[in-house]
Amino acid sequence: MKFTRSNSLKGTVTVPGDKSISHRSIMFGALAEGTTRVTNFLQGADCLSTIDCFRKLGIQIENRSNEILIHGKGLHGLQAPASLLDVGNSGTTTRLISGILAGQQFTSELNGDASIQSRPMKRIMDPLSLMGAKIRSIRDNGCAPLHIQGAPLHGIHYHSKVASAQVKSCILLAGLYADSPTSVTEPYLSRNHSEIMLKHFGASVTSEDTTATILPDPKLTAQEIKVPGDISSAAYFIAAALMVPGSEILIKNVGINPTRDGILRVCQDMGADITILNEDRTSGEPTADLLIRYSELHGTTVEGAVIPTLIDELPVVAALACFARGTTIIKDAQELKVKESNRIDVMVRNLSAMGAKITATDDGMIIEGGYPLCGAVIDSKLDHRIAMTFAITALASDGETEIIGADCVQISYPNFYSDLAALTDTV
Ligand code: S3P
Repeated sequence: MKFTRSNSLKGTVTVPGDKSISHRSIMFGALAEGTTRVTNFLQGADCLSTIDCFRKLGIQIENRSNEILIHGKGLHGLQAPASLLDVGNSGTTTRLISGILAGQQFTSELNGDASIQSRPMKRIMDPLSLMGAKIRSIRDNGCAPLHIQGAPLHGIHYHSKVASAQVKSCILLAGLYADSPTSVTEPYLSRNHSEIMLKHFGASVTSEDTTATILPDPKLTAQEIKVPGDISSAAYFIAAALMVPGSEILIKNVGINPTRDGILRVCQDMGADITILNEDRTSGEPTADLLIRYSELHGTTVEGAVIPTLIDELPVVAALACFARGTTIIKDAQELKVKESNRIDVMVRNLSAMGAKITATDDGMIIEGGYPLCGAVIDSKLDHRIAMTFAITALASDGETEIIGADCVQISYPNFYSDLAALTDTV
């Protein structure tokens, strides 16, 4: 798919539902008693993988055009799957479902695509094993496919080396099936959607600083969940409007949970004109409309506690930094290497091909901004966030940019290209 420079971005866009929250709505709805109704669910391939897995575990899920109905069977209502659980490209499905499967009275196996088969699962296998789980990597390489034989679980207090909501959520979900409280302490606070939504469903979850604690065996009750728009999807439009002179756009109904809003803070640090309007709250999650006006940016340093709050937006921050005056340093972000692709490697390679002054470091990237970018052939490595990042970078670059594997956006934003086209005025 090919992209060229745009005159400016103008207009209003509503981004699809949040991916993390959509996954959790299916999982927790399945474990609750009664029918959970979810609106603004993200119909992306990753969330459809979660639906597919829970159907195989015996949960009836109706996917209607404007709502999802999950006929939950309670904490102990899942059934042994008749076949392998296919998690597709989804790390969230893999890691969260593993926590649930560890406490069942049956055995299951799960696997996904080539990317999933190379992503680290030891980070969940270690704490689950400490809880008494019988989980193993079938090829003994610390990755999927995974074999999980349900077992009685014990509560633990786990100190995670990584700030990862997938690891934290996996352990908390296993904690639902444990014989005593379970807590997880992480180096920095990661997204807290599991804690918020589990409480909504009736679980006893407490959070203090970077520690979350869950009590076992709650009665979870079906809920109405309205999924806020995904700030990770909004990030592409935010960055595009900040890159292309003359732009002014309004992004409606975006989730601005403080554990996810790092992109707003970092853009503002770089000098971005972002106005937060109509603040509201849906299903325990804060939301707002975002008004973005083109701004002249300067470099910044992105590090430490902010990193988990914008981990999926770091590719777009790297691209944005090319248009900012001075140096931008991204550090403490080694996690980028184990996402859907090695995002340090892929960003440095592709931005360099466009003429950027960018260097990879062990835990991030250093970008010298202010050098004009020129179109190139971009290999997305089938990573949705890479494809979207370069689609918008092309709008502020000379010549033509061709993205290989551009269709991978269906993982998190199936209508991305048409929504982007509706905002752009191509030169
Ligand atoms: C997610 C957590 C993050 C994020 C991913 C979604 C979640 O992963 O990158 O896209 O829904 O919990 P990590 O937990 O590996 O940081």
